[in-house]
Amino acid sequence: MREGDGKIGGTVVITGGTQGLGYEAARSIAAAGDGWLVVVAGRDGEKVARAVGRLRTEGGSPRVEGMVLDLASLRSVRSFAEAFAARDDLPPLRALVCNAGLQVVSGTRYTEDGFETTFGVNHLGHYLLVNLLVGQMASPARVVFVSSGTHDPKQRTGMPAPHYPGAKALAWPGRNPGPGADGEGAGVVGRRRYTTSKLCNVYTTYELARRLSGSGITSNAFDPGYMPGTGLARDWGPFARFVSDRVLPLLVPVFGMFGMNVNTVETSGGALARLVTGQELEGVSGRYFEGKREVRSSEPSYDRENAAKLWETSAELVGLGAENVLPRGGGRQPERVRED
Ligand SMILES: NC(=O)c1ccc[n+]([C@@H]2O[C@H](COP(=O)([O-])OP(=O)(O)OC[C@H]3O[C@@H](n4cnc5c(N)ncnc54)[C@H](OP(=O)(O)O)[C@@H]3O)[C@@H](O)[C@H]2O)c1
Repeated sequence: MREGDGKIGGTVVITGGTQGLGYEAARSIAAAGDGWLVVVAGRDGEKVARAVGRLRTEGGSPRVEGMVLDLASLRSVRSFAEAFAARDDLPPLRALVCNAGLQVVSGTRYTEDGFETTFGVNHLGHYLLVNLLVGQMASPARVVFVSSGTHDPKQRTGMPAPHYPGAKALAWPGRNPGPGADGEGAGVVGRRRYTTSKLCNVYTTYELARRLSGSGITSNAFDPGYMPGTGLARDWGPFARFVSDRVLPLLVPVFGMFGMNVNTVETSGGALARLVTGQELEGVSGRYFEGKREVRSSEPSYDRENAAKLWETSAELVGLGAENVLPRGGGRQPERVRED
């Protein structure tokens, strides 16, 4: 693929591409063709192989590969980046979709490295991955973070508002009890950790866009809307899971009639794929998309100081030395970075 010919096909890595939103985005990109090769990155090798098999059939393209990546393990993230660098048989890396995510509502869990799991997987694992892969990208290229409207306290999503006490307090909540430590149940605490991790995704999107300004690599955030029936509810209680898996998916058209941000996973997967493949988005960076619409993210998400500190403390937490921190600018193509 030549640069500047209007197409940016190449390799796209999708984390959590084994099911749900990531799978549907992978299917949509594979089906579009346009020179894209999709790498499904998932933590379970067998599940990855099954997803790749289905995608080759359903997406109608053989250009789908699988690689193992467990975002709850910094060791695994580093191994993935090394293994990816060794894959000189793949087309140039043109897109990374940080989609994998989880919600833990049954009590506190920790990653292999001792970080609270929601923050560890949804933010820190992706943070390290982006830092290790961005140097392997061929400009023009795109990074997309899957966030959520639940990061915005002004949207009535029914989820607790995020609370951002700083990266270390989120990584080690036991040492730094925050709101929820006294009185709130595990469900509320877990959901708040989730919405906070989604705020971290937006901070990271904007900070990355600023750091990559001028490089030809863009960074945008995506809100798929509520998609009942995905695996995100897997840690919920049996009744809530039943409603989410069996009842609410049937009501998506009804929610739509009332203008609610509720979608099928297929619709949102297509909208996410567009952020990777849409030619009209070339050079667009530092933006937030609700489905196909560009909108403003929450007011707190534009806090530059929090974003910069999250970036720097995350580097410390994942053990990225100063020599590995992303350079600012230095590229060829100006992006349309939003200045808020
Ligand atoms: N569903 C919604 O209503 C909704 C709304 C707004 C935003 N989102 C966001 O959309 C994204 C996708 O969620 P989904 O709804 O599609 O949920 P999902 O069906 O549970 O998919 C999540 C994906 O993430 C992967 N994953 C989880 N932990 C991982 C780890 N440690 N390492 C690597 N991969 C891991 C899962 O792999 P395994 O299957 O192997 O666990 C799965 O492929 C998430 O970022 C979520 O926050 C969802």
